[in-house]
Amino acid sequence: MCSFLSTGLALLCVFLSQEVASIQFPTGVTRTECRGRYFWIWMDKAALGPSSWTYSVFNELGQRIPVTDHVAAQCGFTKTTDLYGNPEIRVSFLGCSIHNLFDQDFSLHLQVEVTSPSNVTVAYDVSMKCPLGSAWSPREIVCEENYMEVSVRRAVPGIASEALNEDWIAVWPVAQGAMNQVWQVVFHFQNGSLQNMMATEAHALGYGVNTTASRVLFRTPYSTQQTEIAMVKGLEVEVARATVFYKQAWMILMVDTAVACPINAPVFTATTLSWVTPRIMPSLVAFPRLYQDEAIEMGLDGLVIDRVTVARNGYTFLTDRTDFISITVPIGAAGGLTESDVMDNHYGTTYSIRLMLDRKWQGDESDRTRHRSLKLIRTPFALQTLVLINNTIPERGYFDISLGNFLPDVELTSVGIGGLPLTPKDLKTRGCHLDERPNPNNTRVLILQVPFTDPLVEQKYLYGNIRRYTVRLDYVLNLVPKDKLFTYPAVIECDVPDVVLPTFEGFCDTGKIGLVMTRGNLDHYWVSYVGNQRLTSELIMSQNYTVQDDGKYFYLSVPFLAVGLSYRDISLQGLTAQLDFSLRDNKTLVTTVVFSFACIFPTGRLLVCLPNGTMAATVLSLDTKPSLDPRNTHLRDRNCGPVAADESRALFSFPVASCGTTRRFEGNYLVYENEVTFKREMIPGAKPVITRDSQYSLTLRCRYPLNETLQVVAQRLQGEIGTPPPYALRVKGYQQKRSADHQNVSQPRVAYLSTGAAEKSWLWFPAFGAALVVGGFLPVIFLGC
Ligand SMILES: *[C@@H]1O[C@H](CO)[C@@H](O)[C@H](O)[C@H]1NC(C)=O
Ligand SMILES: *[C@@H]1O[C@H](CO)[C@@H](O)[C@H](O)[C@H]1NC(C)=O
Ligand SMILES: *[C@@H]1O[C@H](CO)[C@@H](O)[C@H](O)[C@H]1NC(C)=O
Ligand SMILES: *[C@@H]1O[C@H](CO)[C@@H](O)[C@H](O)[C@H]1NC(C)=O
Ligand SMILES: *[C@@H]1O[C@H](CO)[C@@H](O)[C@H](O)[C@H]1NC(C)=O
Ligand SMILES: *[C@@H]1O[C@H](CO)[C@@H](O)[C@H](O)[C@H]1NC(C)=O
Ligand SMILES: *[C@@H]1O[C@H](CO)[C@@H](O)[C@H](O)[C@H]1NC(C)=O
Ligand SMILES: *[C@@H]1O[C@H](CO)[C@@H](O)[C@H](O)[C@H]1NC(C)=O
Ligand SMILES: *[C@@H]1O[C@H](CO)[C@@H](O)[C@H](O)[C@H]1NC(C)=O
Ligand SMILES: *[C@@H]1O[C@H](CO)[C@@H](O)[C@H](O)[C@H]1NC(C)=O
Repeated sequence: MCSFLSTGLALLCVFLSQEVASIQFPTGVTRTECRGRYFWIWMDKAALGPSSWTYSVFNELGQRIPVTDHVAAQCGFTKTTDLYGNPEIRVSFLGCSIHNLFDQDFSLHLQVEVTSPSNVTVAYDVSMKCPLGSAWSPREIVCEENYMEVSVRRAVPGIASEALNEDWIAVWPVAQGAMNQVWQVVFHFQNGSLQNMMATEAHALGYGVNTTASRVLFRTPYSTQQTEIAMVKGLEVEVARATVFYKQAWMILMVDTAVACPINAPVFTATTLSWVTPRIMPSLVAFPRLYQDEAIEMGLDGLVIDRVTVARNGYTFLTDRTDFISITVPIGAAGGLTESDVMDNHYGTTYSIRLMLDRKWQGDESDRTRHRSLKLIRTPFALQTLVLINNTIPERGYFDISLGNFLPDVELTSVGIGGLPLTPKDLKTRGCHLDERPNPNNTRVLILQVPFTDPLVEQKYLYGNIRRYTVRLDYVLNLVPKDKLFTYPAVIECDVPDVVLPTFEGFCDTGKIGLVMTRGNLDHYWVSYVGNQRLTSELIMSQNYTVQDDGKYFYLSVPFLAVGLSYRDISLQGLTAQLDFSLRDNKTLVTTVVFSFACIFPTGRLLVCLPNGTMAATVLSLDTKPSLDPRNTHLRDRNCGPVAADESRALFSFPVASCGTTRRFEGNYLVYENEVTFKREMIPGAKPVITRDSQYSLTLRCRYPLNETLQVVAQRLQGEIGTPPPYALRVKGYQQKRSADHQNVSQPRVAYLSTGAAEKSWLWFPAFGAALVVGGFLPVIFLGC
């Protein structure tokens, strides 16, 4: 009776591959169920792991036929996944290769070939038997994901009904002229034309045409050459109007196998999804006037649900409208599944639900139709705003951060702290606390606690006793089944009043100025400066600083003419030297703490080259023997005397452009030079000239480099440092600074004038580019350079 079938299968047999010996799946890996008119088979995705799989069935000759997408749509197979991603196979009871016992009992034997990533294929047998369940309706239509199927009872009614279907009337002439004893199919189009073909041809085009003990079956994939789209009140329906017929010498059997399935897209709002289908399906109802619903039920995953469940899940199921039937589901409602997704590194969700609409209607006396549509609906990606909450309480000593709200399919891969990625295990090892808190709505929150003391937490001193802890986090999260990574960065700060600042005590010693710092808890991180000079070991060595640091106390002593000090005042009484000690942030070099302390040292022989072009010098009478009266000294310009003088010393202070100062270029330097000489008192009339006083001349020379890149080179000059002990002058006791105003305060440089003939010395002035040369004493030796 089904002679064309073997031809159809013969075509498929071309694709046969080698036989693979098959075994049974281990228990628990598969689950099977007879549901509706289907064999349902699920496989555990965890058991399959990364393996790929295909499946095959066997024809009557026992040959294996791999089920490709093409074969599946023709033969009533659907390969898909359940909501949770487990592979699922659905097979129609009327599918190919099903052993069908009088349309009452069905058995399936298929083979699943699982190929591991290492290319090892194992074949597993799956066999199941299903009873019919609810009795066949005269006509049953199924709208599957990948095909439309109709089966019609082929028992001939007693007396032919007078109400002939229009399509039948059209087919009649075709059937009359057709070949005998061959099943044929006629397709009808909206434009009125017909296309007829033998069942074998229809088979070759991908249609399934078959007969069973009591039924005629027609199956078509969607969107074929012979299917058409019909619009019903704005709703799209895909229709295949086919008539299958069989002619013998004395009779023609025609079966209307028209099939129509709603295909319009679901409608999404922010909170719901709706699926609307026409009430009366075109081409399936001949006399809409006579149309009557017998049952309209909704289902999930192929199972009908009752009205109580519909209400409990919050669905809206409208069946009482004239033109349409609609199902509206709140997004996230029970029965569906909300899953995480990632798009452009943004976290979001999609919601999927597998709806079913199962209807029975009566078109006219002879038309009893059962129509089932299975519809998988997946909402578009909906961005979810992640919520980061800073629960940090400064007193607790750790950051407390929660990030949510994640579905169960999100897994924390790592958290980068300060750029270092740390797995949950690493985090625990280093003393961070990681936890999860569930929300009532199946989402959860990740809680991370990071101690302030963790080395990856940045610290910054702000002011007073306030320090700012900053933790830079990069959450890396993964969607578990999809294996999609996304990141979420966060920066959390906390200002904590836990800084103990250092305290200072300054002291003046013979020829030295210094301080003792009692350390606090943050200054270890800071760098020390003396004036503008960083306190490096080079500076300490070259300038004969003394530094001691036992971690609790820091001691610094600086010779009073060393580089790093500044000088505030010079008078006949003394030279005020100031030590500006500061601590600066190790990264930004912002000054955090400043301590300034000044001492006055007795004025000795000094030359000071001021940055504004003023030269200042003190001259002592002790420098000559016999001593002369310093009040009688002057510069080259005799009118330029000391600005202050007593019987033992004189102070000169004059701009470089006056008092006969000469100027010359020496390489890259501008050298200013003047001379202190003694006003000789002549005794008139006597010859040879006798002078009471010795001749006295002292060269003062300042060198100013022309270019700006200068290096501080200071050299202590030989000579006595003032005999009387210095007395201390506290200038600024102790001061803290908030911001880094590095003052470019011009400071003069000081050197002792040397006693002794061949001494010369240089002082370089970083900020102003001045250097000085100190010449010797009588007999005047001019110390040129
Ligand atoms: C036709 O139906 C028979 C069972 O009645 C089945 O064995 C056969 O595989 C089917 N063939 C096709 C092509 O559907
Ligand atoms: C697995 O085997 C097939 C056929 O033998 C071959 O084409 C394919 O390249 C193999 N794949 C791997 C990853 O070895
Ligand atoms: C009618 O429509 C079908 C399908 O769209 C097409 O194949 C056929 O050529 C059309 N016939 C005429 C006469 O337009
Ligand atoms: C889940 O619950 C949390 C906390 O109660 C809430 O913030 C979040 O918005 C909820 N998420 C959804 C999708 O309802
Ligand atoms: C700089 O100071 C910070 C604290 O402010 C500390 O964490 C860091 O280790 C210090 N860096 C160096 C190189 O000393
Ligand atoms: C986190 O919380 C702390 C303590 O309440 C607060 O001082 C800080 O400003 C917060 N930081 C951020 C980045 O929100
Ligand atoms: C140069 O600076 C000194 C010290 O700051 C000051 O006493 C003197 O008046 C200044 N001279 C001129 C010409 O500005
Ligand atoms: C500046 O002058 C000094 C001394 O002559 C020289 O060593 C240095 O290279 C000069 N720097 C520049 C940038 O010209
Ligand atoms: C440092 O002390 C040494 C020896 O006491 C001395 O030779 C040197 O000139 C001193 N340097 C300075 C810059 O005072
Ligand atoms: C100090 O001098 C440096 C170099 O001349 C300059 O870059 C800086 O801006 C000055 N700072 C202030 C506060 O004037």
